[in-house]
Parts: sequence; C-alpha cells; structure tokens
Amino acid sequence: MKAIVTGGAGFIGSHIVERLLQEGYSVSVIDNLSTGDKKNLKNIENKIKFLKGNSSEISKLGKSDIVFHTGIYSSTPIYRKDNTLVGKAISEFIDVLNYCIKNESKLVFASSSSIYNGYPPPHNEEVIPKVKDFYTEARYPMERLADLFRQMYGLEYCGLRYFSVYGDREESKKTFANMVSQIIWKGMLDKEVMIYGKGTQRRDLVNISDVVSANLIASKSKENGIFNVGTGISYSFNEMIEKVGGIMGKRIKTKNIENPLKNYVDIVQADTKKSKEKLGFFTKINADEGIKAALDYYKTLKKVPDIF
Ligand SMILES: NC(=O)c1ccc[n+]([C@@H]2O[C@H](COP(=O)([O-])OP(=O)(O)OC[C@H]3O[C@@H](n4cnc5c(N)ncnc54)[C@H](O)[C@@H]3O)[C@@H](O)[C@H]2O)c1
Repeated sequence: MKAIVTGGAGFIGSHIVERLLQEGYSVSVIDNLSTGDKKNLKNIENKIKFLKGNSSEISKLGKSDIVFHTGIYSSTPIYRKDNTLVGKAISEFIDVLNYCIKNESKLVFASSSSIYNGYPPPHNEEVIPKVKDFYTEARYPMERLADLFRQMYGLEYCGLRYFSVYGDREESKKTFANMVSQIIWKGMLDKEVMIYGKGTQRRDLVNISDVVSANLIASKSKENGIFNVGTGISYSFNEMIEKVGGIMGKRIKTKNIENPLKNYVDIVQADTKKSKEKLGFFTKINADEGIKAALDYYKTLKKVPDIF
C-alpha cells in the first residue's frame, strides 16, 4: 500500500508517517516546512520520499492508495496575520480532492474541534458550525467540499475533527504548540506560563498516539463523513497546570494576562459516540499517562523552546 502524508514533517503528520512505516506502507511526504521541520523525520528520512512543496503539488508524488491531508496552516494566529490563507487552504484542498478522484485514493483529512466554538459541550458532529474565526472558516468548507466530491464523484473520505492534541515532538510548533507542551516547557525552564484571562478555558486533551490510531482506523474504514477525535473529558488551563506540576513534582509559575485574541475558544469537549459506533475508535491514553510520556520525551532534548 502506498500512502501520501501532506504536512508529514509536522507534529501530527510525522507521527502518522512513523506508524505507516511500522505497518509496512510505502510513504511519501509533501510539506512546505512552514511550521514543520525535517528534524521530525530524522530517524526515518531514508525510508520515505520527501518533497518540499505545497499540498497543491501532491500530483508530483505519483499514485497512492491513501492520502492523509494534514498539510494545512495549523493555527488561528497564522490566519489572523494573513487572512488570504483561508482561500489558499480551500484551493489547495480542492487540488487534493481532484488528485484523490483521479488516482482513486481514499482521503483522511484534518479538520478541527474549533468548528464547535460558541456551542455548549458535549460537541457532536451534527451541529451546524457558527464560524467565529478565519481558521474555522478554512475548515468548514473543506468538510462540505469533501461531501460534495463524494456525491458528485464517489470520493471515499473521513474528515477528523481533532480536539486538543498533545504529546512528544511538538517543539517545531513553538508558540502554536498545545497548552500541555507549553506548560511542560515553561516548567522545565522554570519560567512563567502566560494564561489568557482566568485560565478557565477548557480543552479536551487527546494524545498524539490515539490521534494516529484514529487516522489509521479511518483509513481502513468503510464509513465516510466527519468524526470527532477526542476523549470526551475536558480540563481547564488551571487544571492542566496543576496536573503537569503534580507530575513534574514542582509548582509551575503562572502569569494571567488579558486575552488578546477575539473569539478565543472557550470550551471544547467531544461527544465520542459517533466515532466509537461508526469507526470503532476509542482513546486508550489518559491525560496522566500521556503527560508523563510527553515529559519523558522533552527531558531527552538538549533544550526546549523558550517562547514568549
Ligand atoms: N494539534 C492540534 O491540536 C490540532 C487540533 C485541531 C486540528 N489540527 C489540524 O491538524 C493538522 C496538523 O496539525 P499539527 O498540530 O501537526 O500542526 P503542524 O503545524 O505541526 O503541522 C502542519 C504541517 O503542515 C505543513 N504545512 C502547512 N501548510 C502547508 C501547505 N499549504 N502545504 C504543505 N505543507 C503545509 C507545515 O509545515 C507542518 O509541517 C493541521 O491541519 C491542524 O490545523 C491540529
């Protein structure tokens, strides 16, 4: 089986690449290295084909059985800085969709739980998103387009709404990294964690290993559609700080600042029923185990990102 991973030098993408190689796939990666880093592939670089480029150039990699599309600008501030990226993300997605139809490839693509911003939890796939941000404005049309390509041309696809993904090897994302990684890094550096507002915002923390499993399960499933990838449990930023501090055995310093981001996501917490029943996807790693594993990894680095 041949797989393509767009954004394969990124946090989630590089972990998908690693698992695919373990399962015997032949893997090609396309990544523009905007937030990703080839260091994320350093132990497996000689086992894959790598092309530096935009996801729109996917055809240059030849035929594949399955495409994992994660090569999309990955954070809200990136789109706020350049909102024309909304159009580019959608246009590149259409190139990926056309590629999949031409090559009869199944598509598994990254969507986001940010799509639920403004709705009370638990968040279920049936709600009609109220778009509150440029980042979300780029994701919602992708989901609709995938469904349209299914209706028109028989595309086989799963769009995965990731919740708050954390784990090892997130250092290339720097300020865009998950709150858990940022707390660990600040704790290791003995510096203050900046908290927007009172720290009551809640996130459904899902470990990278479970996210990779969701991708593999989706790629083999006969189901099509949009699926949540979360645990169903949420933690406030304050609770995360307490948890990470407890695992590290130290008090993490914090500084509360006014939230500079309008329409910041207040709470995300997955309704996991559909992904359990239709895909058979169950998370296996709880927050304590996942945070400990991430911490063990970050301790092996010579230095962790010193952000802000
Ligand atoms: N990490 C999370 O908590 C989370 C939550 C919801 C959704 N997502 C989505 O999952 C995907 C992967 O996120 P991640 O956390 O691994 O972030 P990441 O920034 O590490 O990964 C994105 C990768 O894609 C590359 N890239 C960006 N735009 C590209 C383009 N136009 N063409 C080719 N490559 C491009 C980047 O260089 C990077 O390697 C993103 O689409 C992100 O929005 C992530």
